[in-house]
Amino acid sequence: MSWIKTIPAAALAGEGVACAEAGGHRIALYDVDGAYYATADICTHGRAFLSDGYLDGHLIECPLHQGLFDVRTGAPAGAPCTVAVRSFPVKLEDGMLYVEAG
Ligand code: FES
Repeated sequence: MSWIKTIPAAALAGEGVACAEAGGHRIALYDVDGAYYATADICTHGRAFLSDGYLDGHLIECPLHQGLFDVRTGAPAGAPCTVAVRSFPVKLEDGMLYVEAG
């Protein structure tokens, strides 16, 4: 596992969510009032990208069937999602977001 540089934190302004590639994973990055989180971008329920969804507080709503995940842990938080998405550690350095992924 190592820290991988992804995208500027500023890229999350507005929607609060964006996608990035890190360590061979497609990752969704989230900004919840200045706290940063990362999860796998692909929903565990179907083939949809969470980074295309709607972020409301700590919850990301999948754009396909409106399932919910807690971006802090990846835990499912609303039907039809029942399986967690993987979450990744994130750190901010010099305006860039780093994800620990391998
Ligand atoms: Fe995400 Fe169905 S694909 S809730």
